[in-house]
Amino acid sequence: MDESFVALIFKDEELVLLDQRILPTHVEYVHCKTYEDVEFAIRDMVVRGAPAIGAAAAYGVYFAAKQSDDEQSFLRSLAFLGNARPTAVNLPWAIERMKAVWQQHKGEGREALLAALLLEADEIRAEDIRTNKKMSRIGSVVVPHGATILTHCNTGALATAGWGTALGVIKQAHWDGKEIFVYADETRPRLQGARLTAWELVEAKIPAKLIADSAAATLIRDGKIDLVILGGDRVAANGDVANKLGTFSLSVICKAYGVPFYSVVPVSTIDFTIPDGSHIPIEERDASEVTHVGETQVAPLEIGVYNPAFDVTPHQNITGIITERGIIYPPFATNIERLRRGEAL
Ligand code: MRU
Repeated sequence: MDESFVALIFKDEELVLLDQRILPTHVEYVHCKTYEDVEFAIRDMVVRGAPAIGAAAAYGVYFAAKQSDDEQSFLRSLAFLGNARPTAVNLPWAIERMKAVWQQHKGEGREALLAALLLEADEIRAEDIRTNKKMSRIGSVVVPHGATILTHCNTGALATAGWGTALGVIKQAHWDGKEIFVYADETRPRLQGARLTAWELVEAKIPAKLIADSAAATLIRDGKIDLVILGGDRVAANGDVANKLGTFSLSVICKAYGVPFYSVVPVSTIDFTIPDGSHIPIEERDASEVTHVGETQVAPLEIGVYNPAFDVTPHQNITGIITERGIIYPPFATNIERLRRGEAL
């Protein structure tokens, strides 16, 4: 894997994060040594993308165990870490998984406990890469030869522990020789599409164009898009998907013009505990993300701002949800329940 696209590595007792706030013009790394460092890195979006947030948080739990003298302070640190960003379920999912290992090993002495926690964090990271590759192979079957694909936000190696979810499927289709073409939404306000997806597409040598978000509707209406493939931050038990702001409007346009619309998520992004998307907490971020582009002010500071980072796409607008266990098609509630029970899709 190309080193420039590794969002996170653990080395010499530090979690080293590629600083995604300043890509692609600056390639710099942030070194986390404490759970507070990890919490800040997630909240400030040094590391972002649901699976990458989960993997980073796993190392945050390891740091929390190292820093804590007693059970209470450890659990307080976990609660603090878990509040870094509310929407991607991979954050509480990874913390819970690490907490289960802590429960199992806490009686074995400090060294054994820390070793078990580090092993689990490494496994969460490695498993995510394996999962992404599997989803990509599964998802590639929905991409026809010669397809023009529209994608939104960044769902590549940078959003995960490696390889990617939706962008993983797109890369796999390209590797399979399908002669695809990609339109990437710039993804206002944080420009993950322009800064990160465009960078990954250029590096992968996939023919592509970057578009302003508002250009997508015209491309879809004019029959220029064969399918939309994007990621997800939390999927409810009925198949509603929370993903980057702008996903919902894309789904409405796709439905109006009969364009297939796929979300690609690992099973760790499915929240089986919530019945529908109305239960998904939607993060609201700072006004400066909208009043400024980078450091440049583009709006009067006196204006009020509404800045949700995500929106919820109703399952009725979704063609299929691609996971490492197979593609979930309607009826979503029934098929997601089958997945929860461990049954074949
Ligand atoms: O705010 P971000 O950049 O963390 O949002 C990322 C997304 O919405 C992605 O589409 C999602 O996490 C899936 S990435 C594999």
